[in-house]
Amino acid sequence: MTLDKKNSKAVANCIILASGIGSNALNIIDYFSLSEKSTAANIAALVSNVATAPVIEKSKKIAPFIPVLVLPYGKISERETFEYELEKLIIVNNIDFIILAGFMKVLSEEFVLKHPNKIVNIHPSLLPAFKGMDAIKSAYDYGVKFTGVTVHYVTKEVDSGPIISQEIVKIEDNDTVESLEEKIHKAEHKIYPVALELAICGE
Ligand code: GRF
Repeated sequence: MTLDKKNSKAVANCIILASGIGSNALNIIDYFSLSEKSTAANIAALVSNVATAPVIEKSKKIAPFIPVLVLPYGKISERETFEYELEKLIIVNNIDFIILAGFMKVLSEEFVLKHPNKIVNIHPSLLPAFKGMDAIKSAYDYGVKFTGVTVHYVTKEVDSGPIISQEIVKIEDNDTVESLEEKIHKAEHKIYPVALELAICGE
């Protein structure tokens, strides 16, 4: 599929991968394509592996000019086809950055190695602490006083690539997991677009 390049001033052509609610994806779309706080990134498409993901309808509503593609990847046996289709999209459209925004699947080592310093992810903890699933709850249950969010490049080890940016979130005594989740998402929305701009444009 050939995608139009809407923002001709953009330094980087990007696609976003998202599986669920999509608050980060929508925030990035707003930053680069709607309010244009930066024009460094052209968001060429949103790709979801889940046909029913809320992010799909929300993105179509706020930014109907951004193509939305569903490439099914639920079971591990679907990963090869998913990555094959994604690779085609990347090559045909000269995609510079693959932005993971609540993409709940692991990409294969082979795919990741093909795209060094091109895949960016956000994780809801201060890496290297609390890698993997349920990072917010794990940090809360552990009783740490500070947690946060990390934007990093994706490498073959999950949640381990070079860090682009981090933001600290303090856990107050009266915080609940829910209130902490809210604070974490706020921090994510603050730093992810700025970190992407940094990755694209350099310091
Ligand atoms: C975020 O907390 C992100 O850090 C993690 O998954 C969550 C996705 O939330 N990787 P959303 O779909 O962007 O709202």
